[in-house]
Amino acid sequence: MQPLRFVLIGAGNIAATHAAAIQAVPGGVLAAVATRHPERGPAFAARYGASWHADYHAVVARPDVDAVAICTPQDLHLPITLAAARAGKHVLCEKPMARSAAECDAMLAACERAGVALGVIFQSRFDPLSRRCRELLASGKLGRIVWVGARTPWYRGAAYFQAAPWRGQAAQGGGVLINQAIHAIDLLIWLAGLPARVTAQARTLVHAVEIEDAAQALLEYDSGAIGLVQATTVAYPGYPEQLEFFGSQGSAVLHKGEGRLQWHVREPREDGQESAAVSSGAAAPMDITAAGHIAQYQDFAEAVRAGRPPLVDGHEGRQSMLLLDAIYRSARSGRTEAVVP
Ligand SMILES: NC(=O)c1ccc[n+]([C@@H]2O[C@H](COP(=O)([O-])OP(=O)(O)OC[C@H]3O[C@@H](n4cnc5c(N)ncnc54)[C@H](O)[C@@H]3O)[C@@H](O)[C@H]2O)c1
Repeated sequence: MQPLRFVLIGAGNIAATHAAAIQAVPGGVLAAVATRHPERGPAFAARYGASWHADYHAVVARPDVDAVAICTPQDLHLPITLAAARAGKHVLCEKPMARSAAECDAMLAACERAGVALGVIFQSRFDPLSRRCRELLASGKLGRIVWVGARTPWYRGAAYFQAAPWRGQAAQGGGVLINQAIHAIDLLIWLAGLPARVTAQARTLVHAVEIEDAAQALLEYDSGAIGLVQATTVAYPGYPEQLEFFGSQGSAVLHKGEGRLQWHVREPREDGQESAAVSSGAAAPMDITAAGHIAQYQDFAEAVRAGRPPLVDGHEGRQSMLLLDAIYRSARSGRTEAVVP
């Protein structure tokens, strides 16, 4: 099998999960690592037999590299993608895809122009229970979905923000909605579609940061359905995230943070429950397992080799940003705002 040679940009919290996933892909090779920190970068790269570079610009253009995996703060997702596309490399970018839908559009345009694949990490879409929940909703057994919810009552302490100050800064990071709850928000959209309008509040209630640590958004769908997103990083010590789908004929609750899916159908009567391994960042980001990333890397590698888009491509990655743009707009304006696709 042809090797697929990756360069990893960023060697912080999530980078080791990417390195493990690259090694789990048939033919996957971690060729190089670029990170600004000379105290951490060389040791990290050496652990995987990769070379270390301080500047990502040079390494993305290396002729022996096929794909660029982006594990930096989100303000760099756009510029690194542009540099990679210019060099003709495929891109696999961590969530959030960028800081706004406009940045996502620029990433999509650059990758389409260059003819390279663009994937966005949303590993929860590869969880067996998320897929099962999607099948259930698609089966129509629950009837017309009328009331949905996505709740992320997580906790992050001061040490989390001190370890990487960008996580508390508006320009580089963004708050609980774009950083933590985006996983549940992406699943909600994947499972129930994009709402048409939102009315939201976002507040900084406890942490000494520039960004929101508590937020909620009322959702209205064109179908008439309504819903609620709730997200916080002040829910000590961190409670399991959960998604809810209530329909005219039954309901499904994805206890995502507990690895459990529960459903009930009225007629013909069906009461079901399935369990899977727990992978949740409720209390700490690195409590997640690598299984979702490995599955997503496997799909990305197959997509590149087959010349098809990855399952979570740039268009899919952009969906949560459309909703987040509207939520942040509404939180600022105090009005109901349209989600502009
Ligand atoms: N999918 C998930 O579950 C998950 C979990 C954690 C983080 N993430 C995402 O991964 C990304 C990184 O998060 P993290 O927590 O690992 O961050 P981090 O702060 O721990 O690490 C960021 C890394 O980027 C590097 N970096 C910063 N500027 C750079 C530059 N100009 N050139 C090269 N390297 C540079 C830093 O040196 C550091 O190694 C974020 O987008 C975050 O939202 C995703």
